Amino acid sequence: MNAGILGLGKYLPERVLTNAELEKMVDTSDEWIRTRTGIEERRIASDDIQSSHMATMAAEEAIRDAGLTANDIDMILVATITPDYGFPSVASMVQHNIGARHIPAMDVSAACAGFIYGAVTAKQFVESGVCKHVLVIGVEKLSKITDYTDRNTCVLFGDAAGAAVIGPVSDGKGILSFELGTDGSGLKHLFQDGDYIYMNGREVFKFAVRQMGESSLNVIEKANLQKEDVDYFIPHQANMRIMESARQRLGVPVEKMAYTVNKYGNTSSSTIPIALYEAVKEGKINDDDVIVMVGFGGGLSWGALTLRWGK
Ligand code: ACO
Repeated sequence: MNAGILGLGKYLPERVLTNAELEKMVDTSDEWIRTRTGIEERRIASDDIQSSHMATMAAEEAIRDAGLTANDIDMILVATITPDYGFPSVASMVQHNIGARHIPAMDVSAACAGFIYGAVTAKQFVESGVCKHVLVIGVEKLSKITDYTDRNTCVLFGDAAGAAVIGPVSDGKGILSFELGTDGSGLKHLFQDGDYIYMNGREVFKFAVRQMGESSLNVIEKANLQKEDVDYFIPHQANMRIMESARQRLGVPVEKMAYTVNKYGNTSSSTIPIALYEAVKEGKINDDDVIVMVGFGGGLSWGALTLRWGK
């Protein structure tokens, strides 16, 4: 039995924070932000909207999109580094909010690689026959751990949620291969220091450029595919220059790479499901297309997978 994606959902807060507004908050410029990162604007959730709310909205859409109801969900995995509370998990709040049965629900902490970690975990439960439908959500309210006086970080991040229902698909479709990894010695480059994110951008940049390319090539090989077989490439949306270098290493044409960082900034675990959602809804992904997804982030951790689209 193969596990694949049966439905997708997303939630984006309405409030748009533009580069022009950030120019008034810190010593930066629209030109610097665009040329260094590709980001033009990002979404910021209001004080009363926490990760559990965004996750619930995205989850409900994904369940509808899969043609299911909450009663059909057998497990909930929420990838997040910005839970509402230290405990309980966002996943347990989503279980209650969507009206699911008393099923297993837990959070996964793997920063920007979190959605890939969640999807790969879901695959194990589906393919072993333990669960039929696993709800995997990537959600972040990064604005609550962003220091809006620190120009090194505050221009980068945004808030959002993306969700997928993972379940059985026909032979040859679904998740074909994956790779997950962690190098804990990289803690010093990216962590939450007290209230806020600390990031050594240059070090994370070097790691990301190397790891995104390598992991993508590894999962292509593990699936017995060639670079030329890749129809669509979904890198974690952190920085346009990092994505561009990975794209060139894979030799994927520019129109075959997801690009949402300009509109939403880096929303950590939610960038990949949102980019997939938008590509599918815009008709950029067709049945049987081979998709490569790759994420990297705090840990330092990384994850990649290949997926053949379709049910
Ligand atoms: N506006 C203007 N100048 C700035 C800004 C800003 N917003 N931010 C930094 N600068 C300055 C720096 O202070 C530095 O000045 P200095 O030379 O006088 O010290 C100068 O710009 C150049 O800094 P660099 O670090 O060399 O800039 P770089 O080209 O590397 O771009 C960036 C910085 C965009 C942060 C890049 O390093 C990057 O994207 N790194 C990866 C970040 C990332 O992917 N994070 C993902 C993980 S997030 C997670 O897991 C939650």
